[in-house]
Amino acid sequence: MEVTGILISEREINKRVNSLARRISRDYAGKYIIVLCILNGAFMFASDLVKKIKVPLEIDFISLSSYSGMESSEEIVVDFTSRVSLKNKHVLIVEDIVDTGLTAKYLLECIGDKQPASIKFCSLLDKPSRRKVDVKIDYIGFTIEDIFVVGYGMDYENEYRNLTNIHGCKGEIEWT
Ligand code: IMP
Repeated sequence: MEVTGILISEREINKRVNSLARRISRDYAGKYIIVLCILNGAFMFASDLVKKIKVPLEIDFISLSSYSGMESSEEIVVDFTSRVSLKNKHVLIVEDIVDTGLTAKYLLECIGDKQPASIKFCSLLDKPSRRKVDVKIDYIGFTIEDIFVVGYGMDYENEYRNLTNIHGCKGEIEWT
């Protein structure tokens, strides 16, 4: 597996995060948000995003995994979940990437069961060509083609999360 050139630069990410944060701040004006960051992939995006949101908020974390190598395993493993009460709260889920849509569907269902006042989904990246289930994403940073990406929080076998730009990958996958 080889990490190729920059697909989305740090500068473009920064610009887009600012504009998403402005929209979110407008949409939630006068409200209090519970931001749920989906670990591990969304940690950098959520961190940058909340710094720019201008309404009061709380941030909490849910740790999920659904990928093995470059393929979605289609099995979602919950490592830990938020213990914040979500009843009657405005919940904004922040994810790194929506691929098959299975994780987003699962999250929307689980969190929907906790009777929040509202629930919205924000994803830095969207790969619509890979979708297996229909999900509504309220805020999308960038729509990309069917390409495996790393950097800015996203990994391949837990590596490359610290790259500041988003890169595409190509080549043989080493299955372990
Ligand atoms: P989904 O359930 O198939 O939509 O997968 C969502 C999760 O798969 C994301 O939160 C990522 O953690 C992971 N994922 C999907 N595509 C990529 C990618 O291109 N690079 C890194 N992780 C990815």
